[in-house]
Amino acid sequence: MARAIDVAVVGATGLVGEVLLDLLAARRFPLGRLRLLASARSAGRRLRCGALEETVQELTPRALEGAGLVFISASDAISREYGRLAARWGGVTIDDSGVWRMDPEVPLVVPEVNAADVELHRGLLSIPNCSTTPVVMCLAPLHRRFGVRRVVAATYQSVSGTGRAAAEELRAGCRAELAGEPFEPRVYPHPIAFNLFPEIGSFQPDGYTSEEWKMVRETRKILHAEELAIATTCVRVPVAVGHSAAVHVELDRPVEPAEARRALADMPGLVVVDEPGRHAYPHPRLAAGQDPVFVGRVRKDLSHPNGLVFWVVLDNLRKGAALDALQIAEELLRRGKL
Ligand SMILES: NC(=O)c1ccc[n+]([C@@H]2O[C@H](COP(=O)([O-])OP(=O)(O)OC[C@H]3O[C@@H](n4cnc5c(N)ncnc54)[C@H](OP(=O)(O)O)[C@@H]3O)[C@@H](O)[C@H]2O)c1
Repeated sequence: MARAIDVAVVGATGLVGEVLLDLLAARRFPLGRLRLLASARSAGRRLRCGALEETVQELTPRALEGAGLVFISASDAISREYGRLAARWGGVTIDDSGVWRMDPEVPLVVPEVNAADVELHRGLLSIPNCSTTPVVMCLAPLHRRFGVRRVVAATYQSVSGTGRAAAEELRAGCRAELAGEPFEPRVYPHPIAFNLFPEIGSFQPDGYTSEEWKMVRETRKILHAEELAIATTCVRVPVAVGHSAAVHVELDRPVEPAEARRALADMPGLVVVDEPGRHAYPHPRLAAGQDPVFVGRVRKDLSHPNGLVFWVVLDNLRKGAALDALQIAEELLRRGKL
């Protein structure tokens, strides 16, 4: 029987926090005390984690004191302020934000790909961006077997990737559009209902966005492939839950789609759905609420003899965030590092 761990969830009332509470119960994480933290706005709310019901407290440094394991799913500012706090008393923090991912002292982990990196932690670990995870889950087995030289990916990212306010903006925008009423977006620069736009994060001087650079840098770090050539375009789409990506890879040699499908199917956490003739391929409604990453439409890239193309989808709130964070915690427990 595993030792019970005192867990604190920062951002417990958010979209990711909500899923994390479900997963902590469903995966029977050995919980000791459970602290639920959010902004002052949510203090006093009662939330469930399986059979447990706890009151949300306002996040303060004091509220975290002594916690053995802290999950942070709030905002960059909160992660910056609280990320290194638990390490002071020997606790471990697993952070979901973009703040710590490229810090050389912070392991950036997708357990199916680079579980051993958790050994290097100094009290703080991070999950990748929710569009990086599905792509590295596919690149890892292809890279091991065939050598990946170059990657070009275009993402189609759901509004839940931006948080609860964006999910509400999509619903309100759809209602207004259907009623023929004007709608002023607050979260996004344009209406997202019945629309899409190639802007996620902030534009950089080179014309790429911060989100696109996250995918480039994080993919290289997780795969330990600093030289990997990779370019991306990240697009926000009017989907509630589930991020998709069209990925073109250039390998060391020509690879038949059937061979690639076998390599992908052998990867833990990855499910191949690839019978296009039966309309069977991954899509956000298939992936929402599910743990695995789904891949399909595997085919030759007509533009390069060593090229392959595939389509990958995941639930951004689960494997793209809460599940990956929890799997990191489980890996730490297994290795006696928590
Ligand atoms: N959504 C995704 O698919 C996804 C994927 C990977 C990583 N992430 C990262 O996960 C984090 C959370 O994302 P989300 O989608 O769950 O966002 P969200 O739905 O907007 O939830 C934000 C959470 O942070 C809390 N919070 C906000 N300001 C706070 C403050 N000053 N003090 C304490 N708590 C505060 C909110 O509490 P209140 O309810 O009290 O406001 C809420 O619990 C972000 O860093 C995001 O980048 C998200």
